[in-house]
Amino acid sequence: MLYALQTVPGLGMLAWREAEQALSGGSAPAPPRLAGIKAVPGRDDIVLVDYQGGPKPLLGLRTVEDVFVVAARAFRVAADERGPRQIYAAVRSSESVGPALNAWRRVSGARKGGGAFRVIARTVGRQQYLRRDVGRAVADAVRDGWPGPWRLVDEGEDLEVWATLVDQELLCALRLSDASMRQRGKLRHLPASLRPALAAAMVALTHPAPDDVFLDPMAGAGTLLVERAAAGPFAELHGGDISDEAVSAMRANLRGVGGRVVTSRWDARRLPLEDRSVDKVAVNLPFGKQIGDQASYQFIRNSLKKTATIKRLLERQLLAVRNALLIKRQAEATADFANAMKIMAAEVARLYGETNLLKVQMDWEKALAQSQTMEERMALFLDGMEQAAAADVSQAVTEAISDEEIDRLIAAEEQVEQARESQQISALRAELEQLKGQGQKESK
Ligand SMILES: C[S@@+](CC[C@H](N)C(=O)[O-])C[C@H]1O[C@@H](n2cnc3c(N)ncnc32)[C@H](O)[C@@H]1O
Repeated sequence: MLYALQTVPGLGMLAWREAEQALSGGSAPAPPRLAGIKAVPGRDDIVLVDYQGGPKPLLGLRTVEDVFVVAARAFRVAADERGPRQIYAAVRSSESVGPALNAWRRVSGARKGGGAFRVIARTVGRQQYLRRDVGRAVADAVRDGWPGPWRLVDEGEDLEVWATLVDQELLCALRLSDASMRQRGKLRHLPASLRPALAAAMVALTHPAPDDVFLDPMAGAGTLLVERAAAGPFAELHGGDISDEAVSAMRANLRGVGGRVVTSRWDARRLPLEDRSVDKVAVNLPFGKQIGDQASYQFIRNSLKKTATIKRLLERQLLAVRNALLIKRQAEATADFANAMKIMAAEVARLYGETNLLKVQMDWEKALAQSQTMEERMALFLDGMEQAAAADVSQAVTEAISDEEIDRLIAAEEQVEQARESQQISALRAELEQLKGQGQKESK
């Protein structure tokens, strides 16, 4: 039997580790096997677990938000109009449908035969058909081919059939869990509260041990503390928050937790705890728009602005160095170096628009006139570009990127994007270094 465990993006491997542990020692003839981790970009990680036992232990996993049993799979689904027909055929005739329906019946208590079903279709990729077409193909296949009868509904369903098409691969699975698995019956929730599965993953990374004195200094509604309590025995749990509302939500959520649990209203900058009295700390810091901490938000906003500015300036610099290399090669070929440099100067001026490069350029041209060799001239040019860009970064942040632009950037890109940006900057820097090295070698 193939089970699909759905979790928060990035948590697939942690979810598998938890599943492996929960299933080991069960009654199944063989241990569980990881059959793959699929990313549904920006939405979920799906962990495929091959396991011959029943699904009950999977429904208690803390790092997982939903559990499914796989009824059909299809690979190399066409992106053109053949796709929905291939999906229909794969879902209708899959040999896994019978065992998957049995697993669903055992969990839901449904009787043999059909019932009402709903299809949830998701697509990622560049198919020439719509999500709706995938949903229709799956619904037709269920009605036409699954032991039934099955009736398609929009709500009030007995069975949820999830069809996820990522590029060319389709996963059609029956949902075994309900909403309570995501929310863990948590009583109170705050706007910045963590998703419980994410909190459980953070707790797992602290390697829970029975003698833990565990602290969340900015605990909000206490999600991390609840998950730590669920992860096994502990010596003490300490949580606090600066907000009365959060402390009251935390207390409500921790009411059922046994053992030594201490909740307080405090300012985490002055924790009323002895030095060396805590073993493990997990915290979800209050940065961001959501909870209205304007000072922190402005700090992040400015950092983002600076990152974006540096990236743009590096791109300009890269373009200018590429131009320089081209023109230098041309100059060598025609032995008309001075003329080529004039063209390059015009190109540099165009590229930098209104930024204050004129003076740098004039200084450079003067030095150039006094320099002797081609090598000296190239080195001067590259130095000039570097200094200009550095000056630009420190004094012209506001010119390179407007406030409106950066606001749009923040709305569109969150932390993941920032990580990607810094990778791109490293790549730009590396390319720039390589080009400079190339330019210097050629000058010799
Ligand atoms: C992102 S939220 C934490 C959410 C929490 N993990 C949950 O799941 O509900 C950050 C919390 O930090 C609290 N906070 C901000 N500044 C604080 C401070 N100086 N001391 C203690 N708590 C603070 C906020 O009131 C907020 O509840």
